[in-house]
Amino acid sequence: MKRKVLSAILAVAMVATMMVGCGAKEETAAPAETKTEAPADKATEEAAKTTEAGGKVGVAMPTQSSERWINDGANMKAQLEALGYEVDLQYAEDDVQMQVSQIENMIAAGAQCLVIASIDSSALVNVEAQAKAAGIPIIAYDRLLMDTDAVSYYASFDNEGVGTAIGEYVKTAKDLEAARAAGESYTIEFFMGSPDDNNAVLLHRGVMGVLQEYLDDGTLVCKTGRTSFEDTCILRWSQETAQQWCENYLTGFYADEDLDIACTAFDGFAYGVKAALQGAGYTAENWPLVTGQDAELMACKNILDGTQTMSIYKDTRLLAEKCVTMVEAVMKGTEPEINDTETYNNNTIVVPSYLCTPVAVDKANLEELIIGGNYYTKEQLGL
Ligand code: BGC
Repeated sequence: MKRKVLSAILAVAMVATMMVGCGAKEETAAPAETKTEAPADKATEEAAKTTEAGGKVGVAMPTQSSERWINDGANMKAQLEALGYEVDLQYAEDDVQMQVSQIENMIAAGAQCLVIASIDSSALVNVEAQAKAAGIPIIAYDRLLMDTDAVSYYASFDNEGVGTAIGEYVKTAKDLEAARAAGESYTIEFFMGSPDDNNAVLLHRGVMGVLQEYLDDGTLVCKTGRTSFEDTCILRWSQETAQQWCENYLTGFYADEDLDIACTAFDGFAYGVKAALQGAGYTAENWPLVTGQDAELMACKNILDGTQTMSIYKDTRLLAEKCVTMVEAVMKGTEPEINDTETYNNNTIVVPSYLCTPVAVDKANLEELIIGGNYYTKEQLGL
């Protein structure tokens, strides 16, 4: 219901900004039928209203090195601008100090609200306190901001649910119950997310919630012995590190036996694993089950050609929409939609959250989910 209302507001705002030509981007054009008869002066009035109602919002994103964050930033900017806000969107290219400086600059430039997807979620405590002292509310975007009471709301996906979905996928695809009953086993290695990202810890917990029992009884065999979060986390979600680890595993522990499952937490890791597998001579005949996260365009193409088995579809348009309702709430005193008030304790407060639902995507449902959901077109996917 609330989504419909927001969409209607967005449509009106888009028409208004388009008709007075004040900077709406071409790709945010409203559907043709909504362009109809609004007289120019009415549109100007509407635009003036939305601009008056707006303000400056600083959006701090972690990196442009992975596609998902580029989409997140673009969606946030488009949706906020459509509501009349002025947006300062900055990427810090995984440089923690650069992100701190960017946020300081946003505060100095008069931002009235900050939306932050952190690089290191505990490294922003001072600049967050600075924002709080200046009366600037903060929304945590996708990654929880830790150790601070300066954050008002958190918009994300169910992060443990992402891990559970990956674990369940492995369990079903390899029919671990049948393997257990038959006394068979599969080899598996883990490539988990960054230790400074709370999401990564939760994802690992979700994966192990499903797979631990099969590791315990030998249905899954991890030859490196690296199953704990501490042993499998990869700083800053580095694709290169994942590739290097996988190369080392394949030439060492797996020199005489195939790796059956590469359980990775991120599409970028799956790309690194793919390169390592190709380098080690794996072919379609012995290619392992490879998991990922984000349903990036490249990952979807790899799923179609069989070099990645699955990913987790996280609709960044929906996440941006939820985050925008939080910006509206802190700017205008409205009520955002919240569906979790218990889970996200950042060591200082429990942050009221909206968690979107992650969905596993593989070859079987890719067309329906991704093309049907208008996430990528057939042309983008090369179909
Ligand atoms: C996000 C994931 C993403 C990862 C690497 C995490 O915080 O939740 O969607 O794959 O960062 O960018």
